[in-house]
Amino acid sequence: MSNARRDVTAAAMVPTDVADADAPDVAPTDRPHTLAIDIGGTGLKASVLNLAGVMLADRVRIPTTYPMPPTGDKGMIGRLEKLIARLPSADRVSVGFPGMVRGGVVLSAPHFVTKSGPGSEVDPALSEAWHRFDLASALQEATGKPTRVANDADVQGLAVVSGVGLELVITLGTGFGTALFMDGALMPHLEIAHQPFRKGETYNDQLGERARKEIGDDRWNRRVGRAIVNLDGLFFFDHLFIGGGNARRVHRDRLATLGDRATVVDNRAGILGGIKLWQGNHLGL
Ligand code: BGC
Repeated sequence: MSNARRDVTAAAMVPTDVADADAPDVAPTDRPHTLAIDIGGTGLKASVLNLAGVMLADRVRIPTTYPMPPTGDKGMIGRLEKLIARLPSADRVSVGFPGMVRGGVVLSAPHFVTKSGPGSEVDPALSEAWHRFDLASALQEATGKPTRVANDADVQGLAVVSGVGLELVITLGTGFGTALFMDGALMPHLEIAHQPFRKGETYNDQLGERARKEIGDDRWNRRVGRAIVNLDGLFFFDHLFIGGGNARRVHRDRLATLGDRATVVDNRAGILGGIKLWQGNHLGL
């Protein structure tokens, strides 16, 4: 577990629901404020949320540039510092990262090890730079605030699941994201994105943005439908949530067989899940 994970400060623990008869009659605190960052393959997005999940500033966004090592001149930490400078200060930081993250440490960064973006050639020097990079500690140092990092689909899922039964979240964007919840608790992350799907290609290869642009929405939709059937056969989920920038392109008839077991959700969940990273008992963090 990284330092950042262990260091849940008092700010994160401020009780907001404890009534004190002698306390002066002041408005209940809406703190801690959370700086929520969504690291995407095409954009780096952030906002600041109060305890109720209300955005205290308009979401800011800058493009994700390639190559993007973790640190240095063109590095992610520097880019994020620029982004954050446009927002009010917060008490803690939550980050969704597109890859495998455990205890704040990056175990895989499929987009950022490439020379010029998702699908392009992998650069061994970038693989080396990202290998076990402690993103939570690096951002905690950069911001001076306690920081938690999780997979981006996991963070998105935290914002949308209902908390009942086995819920699967898929995100359709630059890559293919998944997150699994049991009665609202986040389960350990699985990189389904990189497992074989069909024709010798992975879910990511077949369903990512690059593939969608190549084959068009109709064929891409047929693939989404097949993937959902596969995942239902694997998880027997009680409910499926579909998010990410391309969720709006999914044809409703692809979901018809699921009846009321499927919901398409708003892409802003990537930011809103940032608060939930600090609440609940999640096995997957
Ligand atoms: C990554 C996942 C990520 C997904 C969505 C995939 O390429 O492997 O970890 O959740 O993209 O960003």
